[in-house]
Amino acid sequence: MNPDELRAELAALARQAQGLADLDRLLGVRDTPVPPLPPLRAAFAPPRSPSVAAPANRARDATPASPKALPKEPRPARGLSLAEREARLHTLADRMAGCTRCRLHEGRTRLVFGQGAADADLVFVGEGPGYHEDQQGLAFVGRAGELLTKMIAALGLSRDEVFICNVVKCRPPGNRNPQPDEMGTCLPYLREQLDIVQPRVICALGKTAAVGLGLITPDQSLGRNRGLHDWHGTPALVTYHPAYLLRSPSEKRKAWHDLQQLFPYIGGRPGREAGSARA
Ligand code: URA
Repeated sequence: MNPDELRAELAALARQAQGLADLDRLLGVRDTPVPPLPPLRAAFAPPRSPSVAAPANRARDATPASPKALPKEPRPARGLSLAEREARLHTLADRMAGCTRCRLHEGRTRLVFGQGAADADLVFVGEGPGYHEDQQGLAFVGRAGELLTKMIAALGLSRDEVFICNVVKCRPPGNRNPQPDEMGTCLPYLREQLDIVQPRVICALGKTAAVGLGLITPDQSLGRNRGLHDWHGTPALVTYHPAYLLRSPSEKRKAWHDLQQLFPYIGGRPGREAGSARA
């Protein structure tokens, strides 16, 4: 092991130890005060050498991979500037605004495009808008959104530094799960969003998102298939939905274990400005 590898290994171990303490505080598993978070992003330089894709989709056991086994090399950005990404997202949002492609448009108050940094390293994909999202036209602004904000903070990021969107853009009536045909109809929009933002890593929140992105199949359990998958060459983490974590707080520890697998990808994109515009 050369000195760089040793440093990376030690940093990963330190982060894991800190993360367990952060989990307690940030995700509310325990109320014990812990020291403030270190500057996490600064502690992790972006991966340096050319792309090695994350492992292909495969069933995983319940134990997520250790940091050592993680794929460390996301694909390189295709070189769109921030301004280009923003412009393309705005054009796409305009195009989607009056969408009537599926029945979900009938009950929506607002289409929820998603929001965040147009050049985010990390894109969160949820299931679909709920009541508050439908009212405000923004993704993850209800109770699940509050927990997502804490999960993002636990990663050393703010909501403005990531991009947050959903598999379906209109609220399913009564918050039912989106149906397969609705997800299929909306998927091209999500693909376009991901193609524009070009994240280093995607985080699929919950089974619907994981199935919608094709990371797992409907008959596979989320719990047994958590961890890193591959979405057309981009690493994609499958983990629990924050709404599930609100119902099952004892699973937060596993979610944090999953989220730590994002660290190698969120160290900052070379040449990227700090702070970013919203789509
Ligand atoms: N749940 C989701 O999956 N998405 C949202 O935007 C809000 C709640």
